[in-house]
Amino acid sequence: MDELFLNLPVGLIEALRAARHMAVLTGAGISAESGIPTFRDAQTGLWAKYRAEDLATPEAFQRNPQLVWEWYAWRRELIARAAPNLGHRALVEMETRLQKFTLITQNVDGLHQQAGSTAVIELHGNITRTKCFQEGIVVESWAETDQAPPRCPHCGGLLRPDVVWFGESLPSDILWAAMDAARACDFFFSIGTSALVQPAALLPLEALQHSATVVEVNPDVTPLSAHVTYAVHGLAGQVLPALVRAAWPSP
Ligand code: OAD
Repeated sequence: MDELFLNLPVGLIEALRAARHMAVLTGAGISAESGIPTFRDAQTGLWAKYRAEDLATPEAFQRNPQLVWEWYAWRRELIARAAPNLGHRALVEMETRLQKFTLITQNVDGLHQQAGSTAVIELHGNITRTKCFQEGIVVESWAETDQAPPRCPHCGGLLRPDVVWFGESLPSDILWAAMDAARACDFFFSIGTSALVQPAALLPLEALQHSATVVEVNPDVTPLSAHVTYAVHGLAGQVLPALVRAAWPSP
C-alpha cells in the first residue's frame, strides 16, 4: 500500500464508493503528465511565455491570422505526439464503476477520448477541428497552399481552429449539459484546473450548492480549494489511480 493511498481521507473514499452520478471537470493539469504545457503554471505555462491577447482572441486572429494559425498548428503537433496518462485512464475506470458519469473538460486535446472516455463534454472545443472564421461552420477539408491560414472551400473566408477564444461564448447546448450534470450529480471532481476561467469555474460551485461532495485534485491551492469538501494536493496521474484502488480494491 503506498503512502498516498494511506493519506486519502476515509470519508472521501466512502463518498466515492457510494456515488451514483459523478460529474468531473478537468483542466490542463490532467494533461500535464502527458507532456502538454498548462496555461498558468509559472515558468512552464503557455501564458507565461505568450500573451493570450495576441493568440487566443478573435481580435488577435483578425490582426494576425497567420501568427494565430501557426501557434495552434504548433500546439496541434505537440498534442499529436502526446498520449493519455494514468490520470486519464483512471477516469475511464471510474466511468465503468458509476451508474452515471459525466466528463466535462476545458481541454482541447482529445486525450480523454483517446484514453477511452465516452460522451465527453468539450467546453472549449477541440484543436483538431477547424471551422470557418466567417461562417462558423466546421470544415473537414480544404486546399493546402503555401498561405496560412488556409481558406474555407465554401466561402473563401479564413479558417481557424474550432476552439473557444477569450471573449467568445461557449455553445449554449454544451454549457447547459455541463450545468445540468453539475446540479444533478452527487459527487463532483475538479481536476487539474486553476478554477479561474468562467463559466467553467462555476460548475464546482453549482455542484456544492446542490449538495454534492466536491473534491479537488491539484498540487496547488486554487480559489476553489477553500470551498470544496476535500482538497487532495497531488498530481492527477498519481492521485486518481490511488483513489480508484482505494474505492474499488481488486480482490
Ligand atoms: P491552467 O493552466 O489555468 O491551470 C492548470 C492547473 O493544473 C493549475 O492549477 C496547476 O496547479 C494544475 N496542475 C498542474 N499539473 C498538474 C497535475 N499533474 N495534476 C493535477 N493538476 C495539475 O489551466 P486550466 O484551468 O485548464 O482556455 O485553464 C482554463 C482555460 O484557460 C483553458 O481551457 C484555456 C486557458 O486559457 C482557452 O484557451 C479559452
